[in-house]
Amino acid sequence: MVAPKRRRAESNPIDTANKKSDADFIKDYLEPKVPEFKPWATSWSRPGVPGCADEVFSITCASPANMDEETLEECFELVEITSSNDYEMSTQKWRPGHKRKEMRSPDLKYIVVRGPQHAMTPKNPKGPVLAFTSLMPAFEEGHAVVYCYEIHISRWLQGDGLGRLLLGYQSIVAHNLGPPVSKVMLTCFLSNYYALGFYKKLGFKVDESAPKTRELRGGKTFVPDYTILSKAVVRKGDTAKEKAAKEKPAEKEQPAQKEKPAEKEGGKTKKRKSSGI
Ligand SMILES: CC(C)(COP(=O)(O)OP(=O)(O)OC[C@H]1O[C@@H](n2cnc3c(N)ncnc32)[C@H](O)[C@@H]1OP(=O)(O)O)[C@@H](O)C(=O)NCCC(=O)NCCS
Repeated sequence: MVAPKRRRAESNPIDTANKKSDADFIKDYLEPKVPEFKPWATSWSRPGVPGCADEVFSITCASPANMDEETLEECFELVEITSSNDYEMSTQKWRPGHKRKEMRSPDLKYIVVRGPQHAMTPKNPKGPVLAFTSLMPAFEEGHAVVYCYEIHISRWLQGDGLGRLLLGYQSIVAHNLGPPVSKVMLTCFLSNYYALGFYKKLGFKVDESAPKTRELRGGKTFVPDYTILSKAVVRKGDTAKEKAAKEKPAEKEQPAQKEKPAEKEGGKTKKRKSSGI
């Protein structure tokens, strides 16, 4: 007789994270401190900026289902202000309906910065949305990752360290999700030089899954207008070899490759997952 097999609960850190309440997501993935990154805080200020030392901005984390429509719309408007030109210049074009739908994906988490006190009104008691980042724990090309869908700072707050803080929260979540979550990934238009410089400064490298310039059948050349960047999670137990591999500088762009028939899947051309851009 064969002993009946005990059914193992099918769980992985991605599904577990996506099932958590917002309060538990914050407690389990944002609050535990991670060396190298500023710890999670529910307020932010810029004491170093003359005349702004007293300003206090609030920081919250929630999923779209627990956010009001006005907040989601304010986030959308920020994307429109900072990035619609980049979309319009790309092959994707700016598609407001598509973006609004993507921004309501249930497994997203939003980290939203609002304020300061003098901008709070009876109509908008928390103050306007001035910056946000959104993320999703997900499987990407077989890897468990945190995908950074958006990061946008209002122009007047850019350059004061808020981008570093918010992107750091993405790495904190990736770290605290635990193995096998291995990196934070994001997509960026190649025309967005400022953001590319920012990501490079913060240790992001071109990911192995980034599209490459390649020769298509028929002699045409495909030149991508976006790239995929990633930053590996460094964990305490990593061996020196693993650490060195994760911190290795980015590789140079490869020369054009011939298009492979494997690009087609199930009769349809394989589409890039819509994330970040
Ligand atoms: C890109 C963006 C998120 C950066 O946020 P930010 O708040 O302006 O950046 P920070 O002030 O936090 O900069 C962090 C560090 O990166 C450095 N940095 C920023 N841009 C840089 C660049 N282009 N090249 C080199 N370093 C750069 C800063 O000097 C700073 O370094 P320090 O911490 O050692 O002083 C913000 O400018 C933004 O929202 N841009 C418009 C929307 C956008 O393009 N989003 C990205 C879509 S893919």
